Amino acid sequence: MKQLNYKFPGIFVREKRKGIYTINAIPGKRVYDERLFKEGKTEYRQWDPERSKLSAALTKGISQTGINEDSLILYLGSASGTTVSHISDICTKGFIFAIEFSPRVMRDFIFMCEKRKNIAPFLESANHPEDYSQVPQVDVLYQDIAQRDQVGIFMKNYDKFLKKGGFGLLAIKARSIDVTKKPKQIFKQVMDELNQKTTVVDYRVLDPYEKDHAFFVVKKK
Ligand SMILES: C[S@@+](CC[C@H](N)C(=O)[O-])C[C@H]1O[C@@H](n2cnc3c(N)ncnc32)[C@H](O)[C@@H]1O
Repeated sequence: MKQLNYKFPGIFVREKRKGIYTINAIPGKRVYDERLFKEGKTEYRQWDPERSKLSAALTKGISQTGINEDSLILYLGSASGTTVSHISDICTKGFIFAIEFSPRVMRDFIFMCEKRKNIAPFLESANHPEDYSQVPQVDVLYQDIAQRDQVGIFMKNYDKFLKKGGFGLLAIKARSIDVTKKPKQIFKQVMDELNQKTTVVDYRVLDPYEKDHAFFVVKKK
């Protein structure tokens, strides 16, 4: 009996163990300490919701991601590439432009990019989109950076790079915006700010996987 069922393009759910999986683009290789699982000739990688906010949002039932097999993606805050690696498994005919400003984490990330052919790393700040203006218009903009002006940085990139009809996926860390306010208040503030500039189509609070974080899905009309 099949154990893995289709959820979204390139994303599968293993009902018995309640895990989320992608098809491993580099069979036999792990990126972090994720579990590998084989069904027939296909090898899957478990996508840990405690290590990736996108997996946490999927586990909490997010209704859409906008990511397809052939999507062009701009990813802000790649770190060493845990989440990027799963998106790379999904976009087998697409491409990911990944921005990270820390030279230390970029070093590890580059090793992964050498093995996977659909990722281009940029050592740049997401706050200066003019420094990576060679990136084309994209179908999906993803941001996961713990900065005070998370929404402002996201909107700058949204205006410059996201196609009409494209999706924006934004992970928000409440404590980076204002430690004195309750996360719930911050999430409401972010929701209002986003809705003034775009359309929020889904939203999830990420606990217990990520404390004081929320995940917003917006669509550019
Ligand atoms: C929470 S980690 C990202 C984890 C990663 N998205 C994942 O799920 O695998 C945030 C990363 O954003 C990077 N970052 C923070 N501010 C940034 C900026 N302005 N431009 C580029 N990267 C930034 C940090 O160096 C850090 O590696």
